[in-house]
Amino acid sequence: MTLPENRCKKLWRFTQLKLGNHPNDTSNYELTRLASIILKISQGTLLDFVGNHIISVNQFERADVERIFSVADAMRPYAMRERITRVLEGAIVSNMFFEPSTRTRVSFGSAFNLLGGEVRETTEVKASSLAKGESLYDTARVLSGYSDVIVMRHPESGSVAEFAEASRVPVINGGDGPNEHPSQALLDLYTMREELRNKGRNIDGFGIALIGDLKFGRAVHSLCKLLGLFENIRLHLVSPPGLELPEEIVAELKQRHEVESFNALEDGLHDVDILYVTRTQEERFPSQEEANRYRGLFRINQSIYTEHCKPNTVIMHPLPRDSRAQAQELDDDLNQNPNLAIFRQTDNGVLVRMALFALVLDVVDEAHNHAQPVTWHTAKRHHQLG
Ligand code: NCD
Repeated sequence: MTLPENRCKKLWRFTQLKLGNHPNDTSNYELTRLASIILKISQGTLLDFVGNHIISVNQFERADVERIFSVADAMRPYAMRERITRVLEGAIVSNMFFEPSTRTRVSFGSAFNLLGGEVRETTEVKASSLAKGESLYDTARVLSGYSDVIVMRHPESGSVAEFAEASRVPVINGGDGPNEHPSQALLDLYTMREELRNKGRNIDGFGIALIGDLKFGRAVHSLCKLLGLFENIRLHLVSPPGLELPEEIVAELKQRHEVESFNALEDGLHDVDILYVTRTQEERFPSQEEANRYRGLFRINQSIYTEHCKPNTVIMHPLPRDSRAQAQELDDDLNQNPNLAIFRQTDNGVLVRMALFALVLDVVDEAHNHAQPVTWHTAKRHHQLG
């Protein structure tokens, strides 16, 4: 059975109207929720985002990813300061980052602010009661009393899922140890889609080299799982011996895609559309001495790029890149290369995170009803992202 999307939209609008006229009648709220689920099914979306946690990319089907991307596209005017919306006025996000972070933390916060909401932050274990021995369960029960949604980063795999179980509000995983980083994978894939589209291509059938620490890199783990939703991708897995992608992720990729592994950097760069370079995750190694063995082993600079890559190969990196002289996995001499997409990635992160908040808090359509023009001078409006 197919559901005509326009009819479903009409039904949803009708229930919204009823809810607006009789806000205290709970049956209207239930009706609106039902209409919104029917609308989502008509849009081919399988996951009901509203009120749900976002913990792993395994939660998504391809239609869900496409839904997130279309909402992210619709958020662009707000991120570009062409319009403002206050749709989340009064809402609070708690940004709990128990591991270092710059762009994930700030872009989640900015995304929430751009939708009109308030941000509360805790940025270190030692500044929180976890340092006094408080359990994740208790912290989650307490914080969910203060917030409408929580974003959490934590050094242990599975910790965010454990926290989410005790939370009374939706929790978004901002990275749990070496395990997963769903919002990063979404913004990476969104950027790939944009970069390929600019070249008249799409995600199905493209070629990508995943480079560096594929063992501990959670961003790359989540990205591989997302790529599993697409067709016929050619993957080069390029890592120093000892830092290979975990076997179970490779096996999953091989079910759908053509996968080749390389231990020497120069061997894996040819004939792909995108290089996805990653940092050696030194903080995840058993000792600094062991991490030092890998520092600077894989470095890409302009001359290696020119010699080994197809013209116009896009260069991506989840950032931060390690710019210390001994490391330099992505050299500064690539900064003027127009194919360097790393800052387009970070800009896109705001759009994708706005989309996640809008979906989870059920304000996708409402956001546009609240839109107003921007009155202040803003450089953003006059430059394209990137
Ligand atoms: C990544 C992370 O924290 O996993 N960074 C990020 O969130 N953009 C990658 C990294 O730290 O190397």
